[in-house]
Amino acid sequence: MKLFLDTANVDHVAEVAAWGVLDGVTTNPTLVAKEGKDFKETVLKMCALVPCVSAQVTATDAEGMKKQAVEYAGWHKHVVVKVPMTTEGLKVLAFCRQKGIRTNCTLVFSLAQAVLAAKAGASILSPFVGRIDDAGESGMALIAEIMQAWSHYKFATEVLVASTRHTEHVTEAAKLGAHICTIPYEVFLKLPKHQLTDTGLDRFQKDWEKVQKN
Ligand code: E4P
Repeated sequence: MKLFLDTANVDHVAEVAAWGVLDGVTTNPTLVAKEGKDFKETVLKMCALVPCVSAQVTATDAEGMKKQAVEYAGWHKHVVVKVPMTTEGLKVLAFCRQKGIRTNCTLVFSLAQAVLAAKAGASILSPFVGRIDDAGESGMALIAEIMQAWSHYKFATEVLVASTRHTEHVTEAAKLGAHICTIPYEVFLKLPKHQLTDTGLDRFQKDWEKVQKN
């Protein structure tokens, strides 16, 4: 499973990329607004660190989104254009497929939407599991449905588990065979942690100190 960081913070991307486990980054207008930095500059800095950076269009009509898609894709070969799951968005996904522009179809909340995004040629599709959980349903149940459907066909579209809120979302995504999981920085920092690793290392250090004293 590829691991992406869900952020618009370049320092956080550099920090996690240094672990050697980071495959990409997803940004969205909310995350970009939170950092308050120039969008293009942020995307370009991230492209220097990882091979896949999702940059979301902000127009809502197909023609406006197509213009932005061409512009963003021209910034760097690591840019993946993020397009919302709307009928206008479907037109943009098909256009981008023809132009050889990689896309990430965002705001996916149903299997029907996932199938349409794949048929229109999205490179990646992003079901938002946390927001489904927030609404009182099971986000991971949708991932299970999509992965089951994917097992019947040869869709090239990768399933990216988005809107993750905790480490269990990440481990469940791996168990279900999702292709990608995007993870907020705070959750990413928890992934390498285990209490038995800490106590085990502490004991090794203390025992080694005894050897040194002999
Ligand atoms: C990623 O591509 C999404 O934009 C992101 O995971 C949304 O997460 P949120 O529901 O926490 O805003």
